[in-house]
Amino acid sequence: MTDRELINIAREASQSAYAPYSKFNVGAALECSDGTVFTGCNIENASLGCSICAERTAAVKAVSSGNRDFVRIAVYAESASYCTPCGTCRQFLSEFSPNMEVLCAKSDGRYVSYKLNKMLPFSFSSETLL
Ligand code: THU
Repeated sequence: MTDRELINIAREASQSAYAPYSKFNVGAALECSDGTVFTGCNIENASLGCSICAERTAAVKAVSSGNRDFVRIAVYAESASYCTPCGTCRQFLSEFSPNMEVLCAKSDGRYVSYKLNKMLPFSFSSETLL
């Protein structure tokens, strides 16, 4: 699958966002090593701290379906700026696939690509607990 195809799936997923408070709809498309793609959107709550980002929605769907080996994630928001994953999502994804690729797309169709381990240096991991 091309980057562009994965971004298009993320854009489609952003249409399911439930974001009445921020009005910032985000979609994610998480590609796993077997080729499966899990989608996610942000889901907000009147108790704002209960909200979940699009990236973690996709990751929770993947892990709970038995898939923990992530290759790429595309994140799309209808925004003039690139939508980069928040710190919590970086940490959450890093638990499973610190070397994965992160595509951040904005509304004009442009995107940037980063390695997750470059976005989250000195991450906390299972090694730290040894
Ligand atoms: N959000 C995401 O879903 N992913 C990101 O990468 C950044 C932020 C959501 C959280 C909240 O629902 C809204 O965007 C505004 O912060």
